[in-house]
Amino acid sequence: MAVQINPSILSADFSRLADEARAVEGADWLHVDVMDNHFVPNLTLGVPVVESLAKATDTPLDCHLMIEDPDRWAPQYAEAGAGSVTFHAEAAHAPVRLARELRRMGARASMALKPATPIEPFEDLLPELDMLLIMTVEPGFGGQAFLDIMLPKIRRTRELISRHNLELWLQVDGGVSAATIERCAEAGADVFVAGSAVYGTDDPAAAVRSLRTQAEKATSGAPWACAH
Ligand code: DX5
Ligand code: ZN
Repeated sequence: MAVQINPSILSADFSRLADEARAVEGADWLHVDVMDNHFVPNLTLGVPVVESLAKATDTPLDCHLMIEDPDRWAPQYAEAGAGSVTFHAEAAHAPVRLARELRRMGARASMALKPATPIEPFEDLLPELDMLLIMTVEPGFGGQAFLDIMLPKIRRTRELISRHNLELWLQVDGGVSAATIERCAEAGADVFVAGSAVYGTDDPAAAVRSLRTQAEKATSGAPWACAH
């Protein structure tokens, strides 16, 4: 899988979301953080905003649901036009049923793990998923420091993907920047979410290009990576 860079609009100007989406042309996906003030102590946006954003941009939407009861709510994001829907393992009651439902609706099904949640109990579930998200900060806020202690989990997950020969994307989210993206890529990530490192700069599209170059260099030669 080629490297993918997904800017997080959590760090964008919410009053100009369509413009902010266009400001990162060249990005693979637009990462949309949905927070419900229960699963995480922060509140962002919901289905109507995702629906409008999907109409306003050609960049596919990667919706990261930091919400309780995703079994009930996640399908609505697929319906609203999200190309990829990520629910949290800690919140899902029936992750296999939910992943199958998302796929049946035509979305990519993805599951996220908070920093304290190990990957090993989910080994048998991985074929049901299109992407696995390893959080590299405690979810809830942009601009936090990258947790280096997550690198072994990224490595172990990459090993599982290789061992089972899966077509599973491995996403990292939280504190990903010019200073940390190479470590993530070397550990085995291939989809990189970046909020402040993209929208906190004067030229978000240039930031996307430069993160991509760094990640591609760091993974060149890795068996799971391939040229863009
Ligand atoms: C945090 C969100 C992230 C956030 C990342 O809970 O899931 O997507 O936007 O922001 P940065 O890249 O600034 O850490
Ligand atoms: Zn996110």
